[in-house]
Amino acid sequence: MSKVLVIHGPNLNLLGTREEDIYGTATLDDINGQLKTLADNAGVEIEFFQSNHEGEIVDKIGAAKENFSAILINPAAYTHTSVAIRDAIAAVQIPTIEVHLSNVYAREEFRHTSLIAPVAHGQISGFGVDSYLLGLQATINLIKG
Ligand code: DQA
Repeated sequence: MSKVLVIHGPNLNLLGTREEDIYGTATLDDINGQLKTLADNAGVEIEFFQSNHEGEIVDKIGAAKENFSAILINPAAYTHTSVAIRDAIAAVQIPTIEVHLSNVYAREEFRHTSLIAPVAHGQISGFGVDSYLLGLQATINLIKG
């Protein structure tokens, strides 16, 4: 069975109470629950990982090759800064879909640059929880061919 790795970057553990006007009120558990339902209905396995530490995310991506068909990632603030996460994605060559709750292009200028986008299969930004759900559906379509 195909397996998707979902990675949530820094501060996404605070969803539900974090800048609700920007990120909404859904908690990370709420989001993961909706993703699990979608994956179950599609007959795809799914694993969740959240970290506030760049190196832990790099390690997780680096170890993903053997076990995962695709990665769905919200790199959060590391989107805009992390050469290391970008290089890890490029190194493992697992199809990777980048998602953001907010429309990063409608926000501060420093959020307009994604170091991840050039090595991602695609990016979905600005649809709240639906960004994750649309991203997972696209990921499933991709791995099922
Ligand atoms: C985010 C957007 C990033 O700019 C920000 O640093 C985040 C969340 C989003 O999902 O909208 O932490 O990735």
